[in-house]
Amino acid sequence: MSCCLFLPAVCGIGRCWADIKTWVLSWSNDSKSTLTSFEDRYELGIELGSRDCGVIHECFDKRSNETWACKSIAKKRLIIRDDILNVKLEVDIMKRLSGHPNIVNLKEVYEDANYVRLVMELCTGGDLYDFIQTCEAKRLSEFSARHLFQQLLLVIMYCHENGVIHRDLKPENILLATKGSYFSIKLTDFGFATYIQPEEKLRGVFGTRFYIAPEILTGKEYNQTADIWSAGVILYILLSGKVPFWGATEETTFDAIMAAKLHFPSDPWDQISVSAKDLITKILSPYPTKRLTAPQILDHPWMK
Ligand SMILES: *[C@@H]1O[C@H](CO)[C@@H](O)[C@H](O)[C@H]1NC(C)=O
Ligand SMILES: *[C@@H]1O[C@H](CO)[C@@H](O)[C@H](O)[C@H]1NC(C)=O
Ligand SMILES: *[C@@H]1O[C@H](CO)[C@@H](O)[C@H](O)[C@H]1NC(C)=O
Repeated sequence: MSCCLFLPAVCGIGRCWADIKTWVLSWSNDSKSTLTSFEDRYELGIELGSRDCGVIHECFDKRSNETWACKSIAKKRLIIRDDILNVKLEVDIMKRLSGHPNIVNLKEVYEDANYVRLVMELCTGGDLYDFIQTCEAKRLSEFSARHLFQQLLLVIMYCHENGVIHRDLKPENILLATKGSYFSIKLTDFGFATYIQPEEKLRGVFGTRFYIAPEILTGKEYNQTADIWSAGVILYILLSGKVPFWGATEETTFDAIMAAKLHFPSDPWDQISVSAKDLITKILSPYPTKRLTAPQILDHPWMK
């Protein structure tokens, strides 16, 4: 079976957007938002991709000649008050996290009658999902995976320290700053992210099919450790090119995640160190209290 079958690009679940009527957002108290015309300043280029709630284009700054990425969210898709609050939350979170080298930085927010536009750093390297697909073996060496995973953990810790839980960690949301190189990753898409205090617990199903933590699926309370689960799934994929918990349908995938039985099939895991498998097993524990924390993972022998 081809690797692609095991690693499909999937959309997140959790928030729903539909076309019913137009809402006008009020960003007037938002210092980074500008009501001057987006078109006066920028020109949209090629489409880079679309997400649940918006389309991302390359965008050219006519004044500075710089190229950025622009996420355009159609206002007609923001139906209920919560939809608007969610966009505001995403912007707010991106502003709070801006400045970290491994986070896609938000430059400006524009709003006109039809769209909210987020002008962001452009990552020319595409996303990690595509990067894995272009690798010859559809998986990374332990050396490369370690380098990438270390950056991922550090940026997850940064989010958590700043009171933010991402809730949608997956290869599609990890961009590469430059093409063909895993040396600098950039975390993006904070559409499912929210604030969380130390010791606080959240409820509500957010995430993406193969990456969502079992405690979220079972409707239990969860916290930052749910992001660590998703990071563990990503590590498994980096090393093997396959998802650890597979089902042909969403339902059977969720059953596999809740059962949390890890398998390391001999191809390719026989070629991968025992230490890597030990680390993955300790991260992908279905019990949040037993799951390694980010600092514990960084301390694991495989990470050295
Ligand atoms: C914007 O600021 C004004 C005055 O500072 C305040 O009265 C108003 O409630 C604020 N609006 C929003 C949406 O926060
Ligand atoms: C942008 O490019 C145009 C055309 O190439 C050039 O005339 C202009 O000086 C450039 N502006 C900046 C700020 O580099
Ligand atoms: C998250 O929950 C786990 C298990 O309930 C707990 O052990 C851990 O301390 C919590 N983490 C934070 C940062 O509150």
